[in-house]
Amino acid sequence: MAEERVTTAHFRKWKEEKRPITMLTAYDFPLARLVDEAGIDSILVGDSVGNVVLGYESTLPVTMDEMIHHTRAVARGVSRALVIGDMPFLSYQVSREEAVRNAGRFLKEAGAHAVKLEGGQGVAEAVRAIVSSGIPVAGHIGLTPQYVHQLGGYRVQGRQAEAARRLLADAASLADAGVFCIVLECVPAEVAKRITSTVAVPTIGIGAGPDCDGQVLVTHDLLGLYSGFSPKFVKRYANLVEEMKKALGGFQKDVLRGEFPGPEHTFSMPAAELEEFLKE
Ligand code: KIV
Repeated sequence: MAEERVTTAHFRKWKEEKRPITMLTAYDFPLARLVDEAGIDSILVGDSVGNVVLGYESTLPVTMDEMIHHTRAVARGVSRALVIGDMPFLSYQVSREEAVRNAGRFLKEAGAHAVKLEGGQGVAEAVRAIVSSGIPVAGHIGLTPQYVHQLGGYRVQGRQAEAARRLLADAASLADAGVFCIVLECVPAEVAKRITSTVAVPTIGIGAGPDCDGQVLVTHDLLGLYSGFSPKFVKRYANLVEEMKKALGGFQKDVLRGEFPGPEHTFSMPAAELEEFLKE
């Protein structure tokens, strides 16, 4: 029998029970299926697809249509995990109407169960509007890559007391607006611990220390499937780039040496047909 689908209600229950919540990214069908089969609770179709898969320098150019395309593929591969679609830059900031319409596309067209958006008090109204349309929303504060130019780079947030207090206020305002969880990215462990004990909704940390209610990583980072910059908070569980380079180089060598394809990879005609074919 298929395992019960994870819902936002599980997130709330698991926080109460202190059962850690797991979340990983995926952008396509095969990886989503693997992540789901590994028992991960939630799959984020992150706008990090821009950096990791689409070759952009930041997440800013990622479009709604690209997110819908990738979310659809992920949703087809998942039977247990909660699928969260990441709202790209400027898909929720312009007006509440646009925010609701774009959030709705993730559920209606792509099969996601929830959406995520970046920002604190400044996006609380958008969160409220999306939630009141019946769409679960995950918040995301701390290092929010869509605000990279305002933040002055990809750096740890909330290191000063005043900035840490602002993060606490952002988390409270998101919780009040109805988010079901809050991703805390690149904040000091002390700040994450305080937010986690203050807000009623689960916190999911990435570079936020061990005291969050859950942990999220970019799957390509943990698999060593991405050869770009790897931040300090990433734990690498495999080095698939090296494995893949070996395999690709092996194919190149084998073909040049005439060692591929071998007889075991080759089809033959039945003997009688061959004889007939070779007549004349
Ligand atoms: O886009 C993404 O992958 C994310 C995670 C890093 C949380 O937002």
